Amino acid sequence: MKFVALSAIAAVVSADSFCDGQRFCVYGTGTSSSVTITVHAAASGWAGVGIGTEMTNSQLFVGWQNSTKGYTLISAKAPSQVQPTVDSPLKLTQVPLAVPAPSWAKLAYSFSTSVSGISQSTNIIWAYSNSPPSSNIDSPKAQFAQHQATGTTSGVNLLTTGSTSATPAASTTTSGSEGLIAGSVALANILYAFVL
Ligand SMILES: *[C@@H]1O[C@H](CO)[C@@H](O)[C@H](O)[C@H]1NC(C)=O
Repeated sequence: MKFVALSAIAAVVSADSFCDGQRFCVYGTGTSSSVTITVHAAASGWAGVGIGTEMTNSQLFVGWQNSTKGYTLISAKAPSQVQPTVDSPLKLTQVPLAVPAPSWAKLAYSFSTSVSGISQSTNIIWAYSNSPPSSNIDSPKAQFAQHQATGTTSGVNLLTTGSTSATPAASTTTSGSEGLIAGSVALANILYAFVL
């Protein structure tokens, strides 16, 4: 019984990640029907992540700091490399920051979504700019400038596998980043201590 409890806790706190040095990281946790995605970016303007291999027709998620230091988050799509068209209704819900921001991050936000295409091997594009939207920063309709940095990566596991198989904590995160595994295991151990 105690072992099952530990596995369930580990599945909740672990998240896989992709980082491009100390300038962009994306984390995912959850199931394909509801995944929580966290973005950390070294840019001060806006930062976004997309599900796919190129900007065109990919589901995009973009965020920037608003006038009260919260975040305006949008989901959007672009038919080509132009200003994306904001989804109506939005395909995301802002949630409290799920992964603590490192010191280099100037933007850090989390959202949940249930769009298709997010899997245990997700193709990701990312982009950011140091220029915030020039006006309407509290509105999803704000116009933001073209990206200054972009990247692409494949095979990122943005889902946690769940706890039904009751696998040990360490093996549920074998493809995660080392630091995060250590953090998850440490937290699981602390919680495990409480279970004991
Ligand atoms: C800024 O974003 C936060 C959510 O992060 C929201 O609660 C707040 O109302 C927003 N501020 C404005 C002025 O819209």
